[in-house]
Amino acid sequence: MMITRSKLEVTMTIGRQRYLQILISVTLLYAVFLFFEFPVISRRIHPPGGSGAAAALTVPLDSEEETVVKSAPVRPNKQSYRLSQSAAPRHHHPGLLNRHFSSMVSGLVFNPAQNAATGNFSELHRSARDAWEVGLKLFEELRSGKASDTPKENRTKETCPHSIMLNGEGFKNGGRVMFLPCGLTLGSHITLVAKPYRAHAEYDPKIATLKEGDESLMVSQFMMELQGLKTVDGEDPPRILHLNPRLKGDWSGRPVIEQNTCYRMQWGTAQRCEGWKSRADEETVDGQVKCEKWIHDDDSHSEETKATWWLNRLIGRKKEVSIEWPYPFVEEKLFVLTLSAGLEGYHVNVDGRHVTSFPYRTSFVLEDATGLSLNGDLDVHSIFAASLPAFHPSFAPQRSLELLPKWQAPPLPDGPVEIFIGILSAGNHFAERMAVRKSWMESARKSPNIVARFFVALHGRKDVNVELKKESEYFGDIVVVPYADSYDLVVLKTVAICEYGFRTVKARYIMKCDDDTFVRIDSVMKEIKKVPVNKSLYVGNINYYHKPLRYGKWAVTYEEWPEEDYPPYANGPGYVVSSDIAKFIVSEFEKHALRLFKMEDVSMGMWVEQFNSSRPVEYVHSPKFCQFGCIDDYYTAHYQSPRQMLCMWGKLQEGKSECCNM
Ligand SMILES: *[C@@H]1O[C@H](CO)[C@@H](O)[C@H](O)[C@H]1NC(C)=O
Ligand SMILES: *[C@@H]1O[C@H](CO)[C@@H](O)[C@H](O)[C@H]1NC(C)=O
Ligand SMILES: *[C@@H]1O[C@H](CO)[C@@H](O)[C@H](O)[C@H]1NC(C)=O
Ligand SMILES: *[C@@H]1O[C@H](CO)[C@@H](O)[C@H](O)[C@H]1NC(C)=O
Repeated sequence: MMITRSKLEVTMTIGRQRYLQILISVTLLYAVFLFFEFPVISRRIHPPGGSGAAAALTVPLDSEEETVVKSAPVRPNKQSYRLSQSAAPRHHHPGLLNRHFSSMVSGLVFNPAQNAATGNFSELHRSARDAWEVGLKLFEELRSGKASDTPKENRTKETCPHSIMLNGEGFKNGGRVMFLPCGLTLGSHITLVAKPYRAHAEYDPKIATLKEGDESLMVSQFMMELQGLKTVDGEDPPRILHLNPRLKGDWSGRPVIEQNTCYRMQWGTAQRCEGWKSRADEETVDGQVKCEKWIHDDDSHSEETKATWWLNRLIGRKKEVSIEWPYPFVEEKLFVLTLSAGLEGYHVNVDGRHVTSFPYRTSFVLEDATGLSLNGDLDVHSIFAASLPAFHPSFAPQRSLELLPKWQAPPLPDGPVEIFIGILSAGNHFAERMAVRKSWMESARKSPNIVARFFVALHGRKDVNVELKKESEYFGDIVVVPYADSYDLVVLKTVAICEYGFRTVKARYIMKCDDDTFVRIDSVMKEIKKVPVNKSLYVGNINYYHKPLRYGKWAVTYEEWPEEDYPPYANGPGYVVSSDIAKFIVSEFEKHALRLFKMEDVSMGMWVEQFNSSRPVEYVHSPKFCQFGCIDDYYTAHYQSPRQMLCMWGKLQEGKSECCNM
């Protein structure tokens, strides 16, 4: 029935759509051209902050994401679809566009009219069309200067409450998350009054690993997390702090308190407090130890300790007094926990006593901690957050971008390029891009035959795009893919990388990675050189006989991927293809014959397999293209936070290809 409707719709609007598409393409082209060539003109027409229109468009920083793009990312439920492309527009207007232009915007153009003609209009297809049209609007806004920079004095106009209070009912109704619109700041503190539930039998294999014969495990634990709700789109928010007291059920059999962080699905090393005071030589946090001691159940001397304490008090030998407290959380007993933000880390006090301290870890700062969530076996009575920042101190890019000439990319070389590295990135990943520039991208800048560029689609927030434009103009290392960004359309960026690498850069090899991938370019080159120059190649961490996940959050439906197996494919965070394969992909795309699937790495595997059926491809597998984190002597490492990138680069400068676990 859906198909019938689409067909009808398409037939009815086909003529108008064609006309519209041509109009849109020409307008977009013109807009893009103006955007990059004449920023001065657009500024003169609408001086920033000079008109009421600009002021009215102030983006409220504590509001939810802008709405335009919200409707676009629809999970596809139709067959993998075919996208098409009319000949890249610059071929139509050779006089209009120069090399400078073509090096800053991807030549990848989506022409929905072509697909309308075939009568196939899938969901994913629709989202590509939406993304294209929204992208057009965003470009137009940037060009006209409507989305101009918010004036400094008005940027901080948005105020946030100094304190927020919720009772247990209100917290539950809010989905067990307390929003902190401006995040936290130095000195902010959150007080939680709650009662841990009595231990219950746990069967979830993720929590309780049961031994043969065990009936069940008694568990009582809860998780208090600070999350960066506004820092990412389309993925789980980073956990800036994860505090996990386990009253019962920890594998050690003792009550413990675990603390950790999670950046892009990668957990750090847990800090476990097991009731022993941190060693004297261990680093402290604002002068506080990371873990305090508590009495263990098997400590039989607690009575004795009490006696000694009284004795010492009576005799007045205060100096040697040491008080030992029990584990701070007890089933069905109310506690008052205070989490405060210090200079070097978070401090946790329970019932007025210091229990743990946790140093700041990832690149996320206090302002990014915009959500407090509580889960697990906990009866929440009230939460009170105070000393919160009243203003959002501008927003991320100003903090993360460092406009220094040494990090500007040189223009594209005229000579032959050995390898082109396309780095997938998102509009608001300013810190990630800066870390790449300051670390491994240095090798690309210094080498005349290595080129690296970021591929970024347009963000739903105007202020992010304005910053992106400035960043792109300054560093010259960003290629804008003119679509509204969406998780399902990442595959378009991969096609854009092939198009750019093969056509604009004319590189011999094309590598794709992510902005949280650390690349050792020289060792990647060495791996490639093992294959004779004339052979087609596909190098990476190759998966054979992988099957689609058919359930859960990231499930792939049979409509999306009807086959039982995936083709052999290299993991997405880092792989290389030879330029003949890239050329094949682009030409298929332009012939409207390229099958696309939402997972870009599987798509690449599928295309290479297709290529291999006519011309043999050398598949080179190495586990040193790490998918999950990092191993020593890596070629590429994944899920690396900006701080880890800089640390790894430092080690590499000393000749050590080691990981940085922090
Ligand atoms: C800041 O906002 C106020 C009103 O909200 C407006 O009157 C003022 O002109 C703005 N300042 C600038 C520089 O745009
Ligand atoms: C739509 O796509 C399906 C499968 O891709 C194909 O079999 C069918 O012929 C297409 N319909 C038209 C009208 O092209
Ligand atoms: C590549 O192949 C061509 C012929 O196909 C040959 O002439 C050339 O010498 C080869 N180059 C290398 C470096 O092997
Ligand atoms: C590539 O093609 C060759 C020859 O047709 C075939 O033997 C080989 O299995 C193919 N490799 C893959 C990974 O599909």
